[in-house]
Amino acid sequence: MKEDRSFREDTATESEKKEIDITEMHLGIAHEHEEHHEPSEGHERMPWWLPTLAIILLFWSGYYVGRYSGEFSAQSYDPVISGGPGKEAAVSGNPMDRGATVFQSTCAACHQANGRGVPGQFPPLDGSRFVTGDATVPIRIVLQGLSGPIQVGSQKIDGNMPAWAASLSDQQIADVITYVRGSWGNKAPPVRPEQVKRVREQTKSRTTPWTVPELKKR
Ligand code: HEC
Repeated sequence: MKEDRSFREDTATESEKKEIDITEMHLGIAHEHEEHHEPSEGHERMPWWLPTLAIILLFWSGYYVGRYSGEFSAQSYDPVISGGPGKEAAVSGNPMDRGATVFQSTCAACHQANGRGVPGQFPPLDGSRFVTGDATVPIRIVLQGLSGPIQVGSQKIDGNMPAWAASLSDQQIADVITYVRGSWGNKAPPVRPEQVKRVREQTKSRTTPWTVPELKKR
């Protein structure tokens, strides 16, 4: 037993010695590396690109906010006011609803909201064959107007319907005619802006209102 222990002690000392040697050796190597890479607080130079990048970012973000903030106004996001994609948004929706809006503001004063007109002065649009027939007829009436005697049922009207070519767009004219063709007792198909555009082109030299014989001749 004693022998065994001494043997073990011997070997332990041997390996301890070896261990120290190895540790010392490693320490030497480690210090060699540390000499060059010792972290030193507060003495590193800032990389040259860091302030440059910071300045570029600062200018860019300033530009970005200036360009896209819309002055932080809620109206910047109103598609109708800001334009752009809102141009399409303004035409979106139901043609009958848009046409009703145009009708209320430009036609109802004479033809009345119920489309029945005023006897002897303004003809009814409800039940008018000029409204529900060939679409080019109401398009021409709205573009250049109508004058001279017209016969509506039993009553005769000799008035002047104003021209709207200058103040209403193809879209607005298509919408309002679609509305009068599909309202009250009328059941005629809608009118597209392309149809209005074509008639506008064909009649662009005309400056005087249409007369009933002209519209009938066609
Ligand atoms: C200032 C009044 C006035 C306004 C506004 C007006 N009209 Fe008229 N409209 C008339 C008169 C008057 C006639 C009949 C003209 C005639 O006697 O020759 C008429 C005739 C018509 C006719 C022919 C009806 C028929 O059966 O002969 C149509 C269709 C028509 N208008 C549509 C419209 C539409 C759509 C609008 C709106 C964009 C409109 N009018 C705005 C006064 C008006």
